[in-house]
Amino acid sequence: MLESKRNRGFYVRMKLFNNNTRNNKSFCYRYFKWVLWFSISFYFVSSFLITHDHKPAISFSRTTISRAKPSRALIEEQSLNNLKNPDVSGLLKVYVYNLPSKYNVDWLSNERCSSHLFASEVAIHRALMNSETTTFDPWEADFFFVPVYVSCNFSKVNGFPAIGHARSLMAAAVDHISSQLPFWNRSGGSDHVFVASHDFGSCFHTMEDAAMKDGVPQFLKNSIILQTFGVKHKHPCQEVENVVIPPYISPESVRNTMEKSPLTGHRDIFAFFRGKMEVHPKNISGRFYSKRVRTKIWRRYGNDRRFYLRRHRFTGYQSEIVRSTFCLCPLGWAPWSPRLVESVALGCVPVIIADGIRLPFSSAVPWADISLTVAENDVDHLGKILEHVAATNLTSIQRKLWDPEVRKALLFHNSMLEGDATWQILVALSGKLDRSHKKPRVFLQ
Ligand SMILES: *[C@@H]1O[C@H](CO)[C@@H](O)[C@H](O)[C@H]1NC(C)=O
Ligand SMILES: *[C@@H]1O[C@H](CO)[C@@H](O)[C@H](O)[C@H]1NC(C)=O
Ligand SMILES: *[C@@H]1O[C@H](CO)[C@@H](O)[C@H](O)[C@H]1NC(C)=O
Ligand SMILES: *[C@@H]1O[C@H](CO)[C@@H](O)[C@H](O)[C@H]1NC(C)=O
Repeated sequence: MLESKRNRGFYVRMKLFNNNTRNNKSFCYRYFKWVLWFSISFYFVSSFLITHDHKPAISFSRTTISRAKPSRALIEEQSLNNLKNPDVSGLLKVYVYNLPSKYNVDWLSNERCSSHLFASEVAIHRALMNSETTTFDPWEADFFFVPVYVSCNFSKVNGFPAIGHARSLMAAAVDHISSQLPFWNRSGGSDHVFVASHDFGSCFHTMEDAAMKDGVPQFLKNSIILQTFGVKHKHPCQEVENVVIPPYISPESVRNTMEKSPLTGHRDIFAFFRGKMEVHPKNISGRFYSKRVRTKIWRRYGNDRRFYLRRHRFTGYQSEIVRSTFCLCPLGWAPWSPRLVESVALGCVPVIIADGIRLPFSSAVPWADISLTVAENDVDHLGKILEHVAATNLTSIQRKLWDPEVRKALLFHNSMLEGDATWQILVALSGKLDRSHKKPRVFLQ
């Protein structure tokens, strides 16, 4: 569950206290540690009370902390020198709106809400709440995160997320923040960040025709959308400033799988796919599931012993990925798939079959080196293509794939880790500081 603001303030102060003690391990300190402890505690308790008494709850600021830390300009300078792993926590400040629970945490009464493939909307919120990047003073924020969970209403009929209410819930959230605080109106929303983690992202629809027809809601067109959907060509569902993010796979599930199936290096399955593969895909207003690609794969390779294809759900499927050399990641309704993340996390070479897909975090994940891309039209030659790679550069692909930094970049953790998916989002946002009402300072000085 998310921490309350007050708890967090306390937590940050505790951390500062710990840092001080670590830096002062002198002989003297041993004798005076109790005196020190009392004076520091007194200082924090009194500053806590002062802050609390004289400021509205919303500007519960971190000024005491900032003063004790190296200056922000210094951090920014250091970060620029380290482009591979920029210190995002020093680079920017994000304010997370405290919305009424009907917009977010109420949905978590359904346990699936925080673990299904669209759950990055929950995971990013949690990670930001636990992050040093988050500020409780909106006046010092570069970006504003609006935590609305729209993918958590599961249909009673088929168990799939029902996102019909998503647009109105988002609209209500924008009404709420724009009437309560001045920051939305100040920038017209351009420094406000939303998550749209389902099929067609900021179009808030699961079917492409309807999604394209509706387009991005007018009230979001000026903002930044973190979305799983992304293609290289023009598409109505990305006509908004956006960052492509990976679908959510729980890091615990990956860890459990790896504990149960030690990665001995031996992978007895050549090519793996488990998922929906319609034998006779239905024509739904002129569109076929997976553009019939999965059907073609099933027909062509269903009886091929090199291919391990399964059409039914199995909760232990991650243990099959660990045993596989190549993992097929064909498009579904949308081009992206959770298999991309699971394959990378579990060391199975992703075979991406989704023409024009835009993949997440290309600055951190060298997709061209760690995956194969097969055109939708070429699936009939899949066997030959994979054999060729296995005979030529497979080892080099696997070695690059097994880089811990690459595997980490696609997973969200409740407490942000350096280089993880939330971190990559912040890196992407730090490239959009020109959209912030609070423009970057150091570069202009
Ligand atoms: C959840 O989805 C169902 C359709 O499956 C819909 O009837 C219901 O109104 C939705 N609930 C909310 C709170 O939007
Ligand atoms: C922002 O603008 C809207 C529409 O003009 C207005 O209704 C609202 O009161 C404004 N919000 C604030 C905090 O002034
Ligand atoms: C699919 O259905 C549409 C009408 O919705 C029709 O125009 C089209 O020809 C059909 N396509 C195929 C391949 O059957
Ligand atoms: C593997 O080799 C093929 C040519 O045989 C090349 O097209 C492809 O880019 C190589 N892939 C990697 C990841 O090195």
